[in-house]
Amino acid sequence: MPEEDLSQINSLAALEQVVKTCSHCPLRQTRTHVVFGIGNPHSDLVFIGEAPGFHEDRKGEPFVGAAGRLLDELLITVVGLARKDIYIANVLKCRPPNNRDPQPDEIEHCRPFLDKQIELIDPKVICTLGNHATRAVLNQNINISRIHGRPIQSGGRWIFPTYHPAAALYTGAIKQLLIEDFKKLGELLAEDTAPQKSADSAGTEQMGLF
Ligand code: URA
Repeated sequence: MPEEDLSQINSLAALEQVVKTCSHCPLRQTRTHVVFGIGNPHSDLVFIGEAPGFHEDRKGEPFVGAAGRLLDELLITVVGLARKDIYIANVLKCRPPNNRDPQPDEIEHCRPFLDKQIELIDPKVICTLGNHATRAVLNQNINISRIHGRPIQSGGRWIFPTYHPAAALYTGAIKQLLIEDFKKLGELLAEDTAPQKSADSAGTEQMGLF
């Protein structure tokens, strides 16, 4: 757990300063940049990816490689939103060496940062990209193929799991599923019904879609 008292932080800029100096896990030794997140801090929609890759680590910005370009393309063509309209961040703020999977202890170290980011942005919808982000956000060991495209009510928000765009880069069938999911994501955003805060059930209350 980060040692800082995040409860006193009331802006993304202040949180970013804390995260950028984080030295609580060994990823600090191999990172080039901390990749905090970017976009509209008041957006209704936050995307959560897994962790920075090579290009993100170099630039200090999430989703700047091929997967990011596909994400931008789907966002604009299917949902009608540009990157500047949404906010995007990762579960891990530092790149795991050789892009290996995030380790459970790394996720736990970074979790308070992601929680605080979400609290400050206060989006209506959190779209989790791929298995790792979905598992970290829902705290469930679940496979994306079972739950993608189905909004889940949690903490007064919708969690909308879908495939990681990297998985769609070389597999047309997954790209098609991602397109279908993004259509549903656009519909969810257009609805003016926010989930009830009181109906919170930590990611277990489904929209009746299972
Ligand atoms: N994949 C991710 O999950 N996040 C990034 O920032 C880039 C690629």
